Amino acid sequence: MNPVKHFAVLLFFAVLLFCGSVMAAEDKKPEEEEKPFKNAVFQEQYFVKDEAFITPRTHPYLFSFTGRWMRRREVYQASTWPGTSVTALIYGQTCRVKVKAPVKEGIVEGHYFLASVDNGPQLLLTLPTYNASENPVFEFNLDIPQLDDTVSNAAKTSNVLIPHIVELTSEPNYPLNLIGITLDNTIIRQGRDWLKRQNKIPTIEYISDKLADAPALNTTAVYHVARELRLRQEYVVAHGKCFSPECKRSQAGLAEQYNYLSPFDGNPRPQDAREAMPSKFVFHRDDPLVEGKEPEFVMVDVGDNDLAHNVNGLEFMQSLQAFLGNLIVNARPEAEIFVLVRAGRYVTETEDAIVSMRYPHLHAVKYDERRAGGDAAWHKSFYCSYILPLADPSYPYRELCGTAYEQLSVGSHMTGSFGKTVLVLLVLGGVFGTLYSRRRQLMAYIGQLRGYSNVSTTDKEAVEN
Ligand SMILES: *[C@@H]1O[C@H](CO)[C@@H](O)[C@H](O)[C@H]1NC(C)=O
Ligand SMILES: *[C@@H]1O[C@H](CO)[C@@H](O)[C@H](O)[C@H]1NC(C)=O
Repeated sequence: MNPVKHFAVLLFFAVLLFCGSVMAAEDKKPEEEEKPFKNAVFQEQYFVKDEAFITPRTHPYLFSFTGRWMRRREVYQASTWPGTSVTALIYGQTCRVKVKAPVKEGIVEGHYFLASVDNGPQLLLTLPTYNASENPVFEFNLDIPQLDDTVSNAAKTSNVLIPHIVELTSEPNYPLNLIGITLDNTIIRQGRDWLKRQNKIPTIEYISDKLADAPALNTTAVYHVARELRLRQEYVVAHGKCFSPECKRSQAGLAEQYNYLSPFDGNPRPQDAREAMPSKFVFHRDDPLVEGKEPEFVMVDVGDNDLAHNVNGLEFMQSLQAFLGNLIVNARPEAEIFVLVRAGRYVTETEDAIVSMRYPHLHAVKYDERRAGGDAAWHKSFYCSYILPLADPSYPYRELCGTAYEQLSVGSHMTGSFGKTVLVLLVLGGVFGTLYSRRRQLMAYIGQLRGYSNVSTTDKEAVEN
């Protein structure tokens, strides 16, 4: 018999015996004292089941969401931004994930997502073709790697189930609609410790407009380096869409799309902040998103499509200013924000937009395309020298980065004066509060600011060997 079941049945008997004797003692009925179990009938409902089902609702401290998620009754729906993921703490060797079809109707072929166990490689899991009109629910098995003998024997003798970390990454075409996970039966003590530790893992939000033919996110260096460094990563990345709204007036640019739960085609959109926000608007929602961790680092790498469509420099700069203002005031007021400056792509405009914000937690970072090791080496250096030194001390920074990057720690220039931050926020707050409705006014205001902005820029080379 399964040791857990064995133990559970024994426990059940022990409890029953104890209760029986207590009741018998209290009742003081002599005939029952002799045979306390005379009339006991075991009903099936009292047997401990072999499996346990956990959901983010029943076990909120076992699930950690990254990126934008919504809850619809018992279903947790990932947005269609790439790389949206959920991490769960499970126990034992059984793990069956229960999901719902992401669309309402039609035949769905090749619905898949990526799964990784204990920080292992991501495996592609594909569901069989199904008819979404039938509202199907799927359960699929995740293989949990076998433990080595000493660990599993120790676990057996002590009746303990070994914990594992499961990470499921949604695929934008078929967003993950998670219901829950089935485990070996166990009594799960729901400490908040695990979730607390998860929340200390540095989280980075990466905002970028990629050219239409750019590779998928899961093949890029930026994604894999962040995985290697065990960062939490969320992406607002669109392919073939300009950042500013100038290329296709009928469509929203990425700067505007950022505010939405998922990318969209520009309709419907609020013309004016006095109009009701569309239900998919992420910030200031009545119906908030599934609580995840706010990213404490934001990386903005935009302008590729604008450049390809010859968007004028001033237009680009104004879009970037408005966007950064929105980030600072509305969306990510607590974050350190890094804007990538790439040679040949609106360099002056990008730098000017950053300086004009006069905000100490906003930084320009020069991308060095000639660096040996390419994109991966550059990103690792960026994370290890700029971001991770600022992470929670419990994060194993030295172990994951190696020692090569330590001297690049940039603690000093990051710590902007608090008073100044508050001042800037107050000033900007009034203007940016109703960002889209008062865009013209805002531009005039920024123009004024730029007139006397001589603050030292926080511009710094990312790579100083
Ligand atoms: C899918 O299911 C619906 C509802 O059961 C049915 O009406 C429809 O014909 C099915 N579609 C196909 C292609 O089987
Ligand atoms: C990346 O995702 C694609 C589907 O978008 C998948 O076919 C491919 O196997 C994935 N590659 C890796 C390295 O995970």
